[in-house]
Amino acid sequence: MAVRNIVKKGDEILRKKCKPIEVFDEKLGELLDDMIETLQGANGVGLAGPQVGTLRRLCVVYDEDLGFLEMVNPVIVKFSKKQERDIEGCLSCPDKWGYVTRPTKCVVRAQDRHGDEYEYRLSGLSARCACHEIDHLDGKLFIDFVDEFVTPEDLDKHTKKRKRK
Ligand code: NI
Repeated sequence: MAVRNIVKKGDEILRKKCKPIEVFDEKLGELLDDMIETLQGANGVGLAGPQVGTLRRLCVVYDEDLGFLEMVNPVIVKFSKKQERDIEGCLSCPDKWGYVTRPTKCVVRAQDRHGDEYEYRLSGLSARCACHEIDHLDGKLFIDFVDEFVTPEDLDKHTKKRKRK
């Protein structure tokens, strides 16, 4: 396993549409392992293919109960009408934070490294994260959807408030 370099905003690769994965080989497994290690190293909750320089439809999402979920060819098949507005950030936009409105729950259908299909029922942070990562696969960044950017000071206040809950 190896930590990969995270592509930063300004790199064209982050704006391109990814291609579906059709070959489930050892290399795909290695890529997913590297993505999990990279995500852990960066202390993040999600990482998508383009962020490690590959234009393939895959991402890794951290869920509090389920751990690291590897998602190959992920599709959101259902999402709640109920939405929530919360602060979001991205490992590819290190200095940006802002409010984005997302569904509170979603169901993601995805394959694992062997090509087996699963459905994940996600809520809260991991639902938000899956939406954010799947956007990456279509060249979209969270900053496209932010209705209000926040300063690092605001972020501190927000984090403290969240911890008190
Ligand atoms: Ni991101």
